[in-house]
Amino acid sequence: MITATIRPEAPGDAATIFALTEAAFRNLPFSDGDEAELVDRLRADGDLALSLVAEHAGQIVGHIAFSPVTLTDGRAGWYGLGPVSVWPEYHRQGIGSALVQRGIADLRARGARGIVLLGDPAYYARFGFEADPALRHPGPPAEYFQRLVLEGEAPQAIVTYARAFG
Ligand SMILES: CC(C)(COP(=O)(O)OP(=O)(O)OC[C@H]1O[C@@H](n2cnc3c(N)ncnc32)[C@H](O)[C@@H]1OP(=O)(O)O)[C@@H](O)C(=O)NCCC(=O)NCCS
Repeated sequence: MITATIRPEAPGDAATIFALTEAAFRNLPFSDGDEAELVDRLRADGDLALSLVAEHAGQIVGHIAFSPVTLTDGRAGWYGLGPVSVWPEYHRQGIGSALVQRGIADLRARGARGIVLLGDPAYYARFGFEADPALRHPGPPAEYFQRLVLEGEAPQAIVTYARAFG
């Protein structure tokens, strides 16, 4: 484990975040090779609701993005987590977990009601994410779409991601 400082993205970080995201997703079987551009599109659309970087020894070694999602029941305050990226050389040292935990805490502090994501349940269950048949995102296998309720009742709805996700 290494200690990383988590802070909000600052002006001038975008190019490093792009390179980091490309490197983290390179050659992954589930990657469509679009994750780095996706972060740029979210930023350009004003949909990068929360963008955090992890710094170690003065270098950005991790990044996480959150963007607003729409629920068909009209409920506000829900966000999508992702992409999340750690430089391959720094994997399995707690940086990804630190980014996820800080992101959850920051959104909770803002009054967010919940977070959804598409990802491996074996990783995200540790943060409290779980699949819920009542909250759906058509397309990917249902077990990969997970939610974390921060406030209020668990919604019954279909979720749409921000425009940048296409
Ligand atoms: C996923 C990612 C952000 C995790 O970052 P990290 O700093 O390595 O994560 P941590 O050190 O906090 O946690 C490591 C643990 O997560 C597990 N883990 C990492 N990625 C995983 C995955 N895709 N599925 C299941 N478990 C995973 C590791 O096996 C390890 O488990 P352990 O603690 O039981 O040994 C990083 O591996 C990464 O950048 N991957 C490439 C991009 C990616 O897949 N992003 C997520 C897409 S949903």
